[in-house]
Amino acid sequence: MRYMKVISVTSGSKGGTGKSTIMVNTAVLHAYMATRRERLVMLLDAEPQAATSTLLLSRKIYNELRKGSIRSLTDFLTGNANFDDVFYVLKFKEPEQFYIAISSLVAPVDKLKQLKDKDINDLHSKLSEFIDELTKNLDLEAIYIDLPATSVFSSLSLAVYAVSDLIVPVGTPDPSCLISLYTTVMAIRDYIKPPPTIAPVVLNRISSSNAIEPITNLHYKVLYNRLINSGVFELREDENLSIARSAGLIEVLSRSLKYNSTVRALLKYAHKIATYPVEHTMRTISDHSKVSTMIGTNISEHAESILLALLRSRSRKPL
Ligand SMILES: Nc1ncnc2c1ncn2[C@@H]1O[C@H](COP(=O)(O)OP(=O)(O)OP(=O)(O)O)[C@@H](O)[C@H]1O
Ligand SMILES: [Mg+2]
Repeated sequence: MRYMKVISVTSGSKGGTGKSTIMVNTAVLHAYMATRRERLVMLLDAEPQAATSTLLLSRKIYNELRKGSIRSLTDFLTGNANFDDVFYVLKFKEPEQFYIAISSLVAPVDKLKQLKDKDINDLHSKLSEFIDELTKNLDLEAIYIDLPATSVFSSLSLAVYAVSDLIVPVGTPDPSCLISLYTTVMAIRDYIKPPPTIAPVVLNRISSSNAIEPITNLHYKVLYNRLINSGVFELREDENLSIARSAGLIEVLSRSLKYNSTVRALLKYAHKIATYPVEHTMRTISDHSKVSTMIGTNISEHAESILLALLRSRSRKPL
């Protein structure tokens, strides 16, 4: 089998940090490069309701998934579809022809409810089965998984992290976002064996009002330094990346978006992730009974205990 990797994204429990923007653009850039090598990239949208990625790539597919007139990944995970019924290959023509495969959890509410009731072990094994089937049947180079902002102890996000080889943390510079991101990254490292690689953190939406805010609180200073240790990539607040233009790269390729320094920075990060060398391997969720009892708990309670432990212990290795 040829080289393949699975990449997912996290912002912890904070929404709107730029996860979908980063994932869509990286997947599209990677798909563009892979098409030249006659290989394929998949964007898997694991955001069951909002589904920015599916919507951005194809409004038509999004509407049909919502109505249930075509099958979705939700059908596969709940045992109601074959793997090859639940993905679509889109063709883009600009500036040169390229392909991207897309699979999405978007489905009618009753189907999503079935998914919500699934046990985490089942979800993890069905998701692994989906990825195995895909890699056996398509010449995939990478699978990018976009996730909603959730507690790390949601069954869906844990199952996704457990099939990921590389995790892209995307936050904004405010302290509450950093704490949530940090807690999630630590939980991933603690509960997924072997732990996936953590990519350099994207600090997104930096503006004149939040960039130089002095981090005076000791707790946040510790957190910030820990996150910096894994490498930080800064992206400015820029109207070129605002809502209608989340799929910046697609627009750059079609030459309708100003190719400015923020877009360049986004593409530089996307290229780094697309070419990041990681090994695709089987992972397990450890300490399963403990994780199960924490599913649905409030992340901030957990964050506090991790933070206290962190401040007490100096021996903990950097990320
Ligand atoms: N650097 C930026 N400058 C300006 N706007 C940005 C920037 N990054 C992202 N945005 C915009 O912020 C909004 C949220 O981004 P996006 O949808 O990518 O976040 P998200 O983390 O996926 O959100 P959610 O948690 O809801 O899934 C979008 O309108 C997006 O276009
Ligand atoms: Mg999103």
